[in-house]
Amino acid sequence: MAALMNLYGTRNTTLVKGEGVYLWDDQGNRYLDALSGIAVCGLGYNHPAVTRAICEQAQRLIHCSNLFRIEAQEELATRLCELSGMSNVFFSNSGAEANEAAIKIARKYGQDRGISSPHMITAEKSFHGRTMATLSATANDKIKAGFYPLVEGFSHVAYNDIEAIKAAANENTVAVMVEPVQGEGGVNVPNDNYLQSLRALCDANDWLLILDEIQSGNGRTGKFFAYQHYGITPDVVTTAKGLANGVPIGAYLAHGKAAEVFQPGNHGSTFGGNPLACQAAVATVNALAENNLMAKAGALGESMLTRFREAFAGNNKVVDVRGKGMLIGIQLHRDCPDFVELAKQKNLILNVTAGSVIRMLPPLILSEDEATQIIDTVVELVTNY
Ligand SMILES: Cc1ncc(COP(=O)(O)O)c(C=O)c1O
Repeated sequence: MAALMNLYGTRNTTLVKGEGVYLWDDQGNRYLDALSGIAVCGLGYNHPAVTRAICEQAQRLIHCSNLFRIEAQEELATRLCELSGMSNVFFSNSGAEANEAAIKIARKYGQDRGISSPHMITAEKSFHGRTMATLSATANDKIKAGFYPLVEGFSHVAYNDIEAIKAAANENTVAVMVEPVQGEGGVNVPNDNYLQSLRALCDANDWLLILDEIQSGNGRTGKFFAYQHYGITPDVVTTAKGLANGVPIGAYLAHGKAAEVFQPGNHGSTFGGNPLACQAAVATVNALAENNLMAKAGALGESMLTRFREAFAGNNKVVDVRGKGMLIGIQLHRDCPDFVELAKQKNLILNVTAGSVIRMLPPLILSEDEATQIIDTVVELVTNY
């Protein structure tokens, strides 16, 4: 397709419809979805409450500028603070933009304290986005290649290594930013006590703890935010992807001292938090909180992880099965980019990240039977791979 810039490689499947956890292509083939549009459609497709909210809001008012009060924005912010324990929220349109705001907060937090060149520490194998600041924060050379000079002021250290953070810190350090569960980097989970130790280290040094929950948030790991499994509260948490079940939105939530940093005029967005996106997000967040959906999804995800581990015990093609709730990775011994197509031929949609990690991010509404179908298909494909 010559009129489109080729940034995504060859795409040979056209999806035209979705319902629940199923997607259909333009040839009438039905697929079981274990990807959710990369952790976006946690409630699956055509969720009645979200579709209704979007249709009703579209008939009333799609957009008005942030020069006016937006009721749905206020309702969403209140709901998110209740669900997360955070103090206030800024809405953007994407994950990278939410992280940009987080980085700006960290810099201003430093500059307000007399640090003119603030420094931040992020983790190896991280992914924080594709804008200049977020790709500079991202520790992946492939993402940075071709885009030098980078935004300065970032050091990258091994994930799960508190001592490495201490070693990388200097008198200009203002914040540490990590994904509680790394998604793009290969589904890497925190060691016991990593996040708690990180919280304590940041407290001891007056650094902000920024958690990027763009992929791990919105119920995916069994709680609204993954950090809630570990009994900590960050200073800043960012999210996007699953927040409005497919309508573009991002959010940056702050707590305590971080909630006081931005003042009128420091940041803004034309579209961020518009009525349509916020109504879709309110409907999504309410549906996630109803009927124990997040906890049920988290438990089903853990049982999928257990069943994968049992199925692959002693299998020499598999290095590791890891994840948290419905964020599942199976690392193979070799790169497996063609695995995506093999799964599609079995009417299953998933993806591969970090070269050799089969990643599954199913809709949180997945049933036990559908989970079994995913497991059976993936186990068969890996066994014959
Ligand atoms: C952890 C994390 N941070 C940031 C981003 C960037 O989000 P977006 O693509 O909405 O800009 C992603 C997207 O994959 C992500 O997984």
